[in-house]
This record gives sequence, structure tokens and C-alpha cells, in this order.
Amino acid sequence: MPASATGAGERPKRKSILDRHKILEKNATLLLVFSFLVVTIGGIVEIVPLFYLENTIEEVDGVRPYSPLELEGRNIYVREGCYVCHSQMIRPMRDEVERYGHYSLAAESMYDHPFQWGSKRTGPDLARVGGRYSNEWHVDHLIDPQSVVPESVMPKYGFLRTTMIDGAYIREEMETHRFVGVPYTDEMLENAEADFRAQADPNADFDGVVERYPGAVVANFDGAPGISEMDALIAYMQMLGTLVDFSTFTPDEHR
Ligand code: HEC
Repeated sequence: MPASATGAGERPKRKSILDRHKILEKNATLLLVFSFLVVTIGGIVEIVPLFYLENTIEEVDGVRPYSPLELEGRNIYVREGCYVCHSQMIRPMRDEVERYGHYSLAAESMYDHPFQWGSKRTGPDLARVGGRYSNEWHVDHLIDPQSVVPESVMPKYGFLRTTMIDGAYIREEMETHRFVGVPYTDEMLENAEADFRAQADPNADFDGVVERYPGAVVANFDGAPGISEMDALIAYMQMLGTLVDFSTFTPDEHR
């Protein structure tokens, strides 16, 4: 019997799938066409469900739109470029959670236009800075960061305390946010300016603000008369990350 009849090297003649795949590997144009097809199918599978879902963000109890004063403070935060040095997103990794608190939930920034997640941390993450320091600490820190943290490289923002604001445009601002999906009610819009003032004045009748915006901190934040940009900025920082009660929150509850 010749060796070749049973010997090594003899393979069944049927073409395997790998042999067919060689055609693709050797023909660049064909490979391109098929790659495009695969990516298209993958894309469709990911995108099409989004057209049928009402909401991609899991709703979480406690999350509410910003109060007028907080919203104004947020504008100042954006204008001053605080996001250039501070992120607002705690990642679900042990070192971050131990330092900053519970990892950020998508719902916690669902009313942010634009979002402030950030990608640069010259300073610490601020997603849960609310309630961590007193208002007085924030005033001292904003006027002269080195006075409370000697090695700080954060710039001074003392001018915010002497720049007064009157909330004249806050209602329009809220209407714009409503236009892009933030659920401000008519009642919230009607009371926009009054709420704006009441939150910065502990002697005013602030029941309405707290009722419309549960958890809103009412205070004379900068300790000086009138409403300054610093009042608004501190009001904003004092609510960051405080809306969700993580002692009762369970991630799957609302699915
Ligand atoms: C040039 C970068 C830079 C910019 C811009 C900046 N910061 Fe900071 N910030 C820092 C650094 C660094 C620290 C840490 C040292 C310290 O506490 O000052 C810090 C700390 C803080 C803290 C304390 C956080 C904590 O958990 O201890 C707050 C609050 C804060 N910044 C708010 C702001 C706000 C509001 C703005 C915008 C008005 C701003 N920062 C702009 C660099 C910056």
C-alpha cells in the first residue's frame, strides 16, 4: 500500500469555514465590505431599541430639578470653568467610593444641561460635596482657598461675593430647561423669582421653596446682605449629591 493512501497530509476535500474565511482575508475590498456589514448590524442592534424606550435613565426617588437659586449657582459654576479642575462623577471603584461616597447615578445628573461629569481632577470630585463643609468654610475657601488649604492651587473667587444678582431672568432660564425636558411645573415657574430670593433669606417665608424643591438648603450663604453670585454658587454646591437617600436606595428597585 502506498504511504500516501493513509499518510499524514491527506485531508478531506470539503472546504471548512476557515478556508472560506481566507477569501475575505486575502481580498481587502471584500473584507472592507463585510466589516462594514458587521458594524452596521451591531449598530442597528444597539440603536433601534432606543427608539422604543421612553427613558434610558432609571428613575430614582429624591432626584428633583434645581431650585432657581441652585440653577443660577450652577450657571456661575459653568461660567467660571470650575469643571476645568473638578469632575462631578464618582466612578464605581473602591478608592473613589471610599473617598467621595456612593458612586454617581445617571439619574443624579438627568436634569443637567449641560452635564458636569468632567474628565479632569486638578481638585477633588465635587459630585457629593453638598453638606460636607459649612457655608462659612465655602466663603473662606472661595475668597482665598489657601487660607483653609495652604497647599491649594485653586484660584481666588472673592469677586463673586460683591457681584449682586437679582434673578430677573431666572424664569426664562427655567422655561428653557423645561423646553429640553426638565419637569418644571407652572407653579415653579410662577414662583421662580420669589423662590430665588426666599432661598437666600432665612428670615423670609421659605416654606414654598422647600415644598417645591425638597431638601433645598435655605441660608444667607455668604453671610452678607443681598443675593450675591457667591450665595447662588454655595447654594448649588450644598445640594450636590444630597438628593438621593443612599440608606434606602437599592439599584434594582425600579426596574
Ligand atoms: C485651577 C484648578 C481649579 C479651579 C479652576 C477650581 N478649583 Fe476648586 N479646587 C482645586 C484644588 C486643587 C482643590 C483642592 C485644594 C483645596 O481644597 O483648595 C480644590 C478644592 C475645591 C473644593 C473643596 C472640595 C473638597 O472636597 O475638599 C471646592 C468645594 C471647590 N474646589 C470648588 C470650586 C469651585 C466652585 C470652582 C469654580 C468657581 C473651583 N473650585 C475652581 C482646584 C481648582
